[in-house]
Amino acid sequence: MERELALEMVRVTELAALASSKWMGRGSKTEADGAATAAMRSMFNSVSIQGTVVIGEGEMDEAPMLFIGEKVGNRQGPEVDVAVDPLEGTDLAAKGLPGALAVMAVAPKGNFLHAPDMYMEKLAVGPELKGKVSLADPLDVTIQKAARILRRAVSDLTVSILERERHADKIAILRAMGVRVKLLPGGDVAGAMAPAFAESGIDMYVGSGGAPEGVIAAAALKCLEGDFQGRLMPADEGEFDRCRSMGIADPRKILTMDDLVGKGDVLFAATGITPGEFLKGVRFLPGYRAETESVVMRAKTGTVRTIQANHYLPGKPFLQAMGGYWADEPEAASGL
Ligand code: FBP
Repeated sequence: MERELALEMVRVTELAALASSKWMGRGSKTEADGAATAAMRSMFNSVSIQGTVVIGEGEMDEAPMLFIGEKVGNRQGPEVDVAVDPLEGTDLAAKGLPGALAVMAVAPKGNFLHAPDMYMEKLAVGPELKGKVSLADPLDVTIQKAARILRRAVSDLTVSILERERHADKIAILRAMGVRVKLLPGGDVAGAMAPAFAESGIDMYVGSGGAPEGVIAAAALKCLEGDFQGRLMPADEGEFDRCRSMGIADPRKILTMDDLVGKGDVLFAATGITPGEFLKGVRFLPGYRAETESVVMRAKTGTVRTIQANHYLPGKPFLQAMGGYWADEPEAASGL
């Protein structure tokens, strides 16, 4: 994969974030997600890849755009798997809460796991704990191991987890051990990435979230030299069959980074929609401008780039079509 692709990917996540951010706090997850998806889809036309969506908005019959199996890109570059989440954290965006992102990841063809849309148990850590803790261990054992390896008291560890009823047991264990707990309202791609950013203060991410988000988080953690392990949680026989039909012979196997994103290169890009821990959200500025902050990373080189961009909104046909700009009639914009 060409490194120039990284910048093209940022353009894709930037436009998705800009489009979606116009729906921030307006209470509509569907519109916020639809805007991000349509923007991302439109921007893909100019990206130099022969991409196939492996992680997307759903199966072909349930998603009009960026569905699983859809071909994206201008068909001129390398053959790649594409994982997208145009709006990761629909609820966060709809409520104007921190942490909504537009994300995508790319790997050489055949490398991303075709993750079924079901829950996945997850364990994400930064470089210091990579390869040293396992999802096979009970949570309390994992915490004890982490404390020993990091040479910290258990009570000085911070673990994040989605605040969900299904996590009551795990949260109780963490609290009983005296671990500092950060409860997330949503957005477990960012949640799983946090342990790999030392400044986040998070040592570990645990609990279950969407399996497709697990693949995207694994892509990010590979670039950040962290570790991610997942185990699918098929809820019934139908879901077990679904896993097998998607090529996952043992649906309860612990999935390693290699299982999730392959052994080769990975590119990952994300743009903040609402302000988050490691990316600012979209900020609208006078003169029909907006600022975005994105991160783009590559596993092969380990480069992590933060890109701030100042966009002139009427110059973007997709946003222009969404309305609200008077670029051709500046006097109308001034209200005169
Ligand atoms: P959406 O963007 O699809 O709404 O997902 C948000 C999210 O918080 C994911 O980050 C996470 O994997 C999943 O939902 C968790 O699902 P649930 O809200 O059912 O616990």
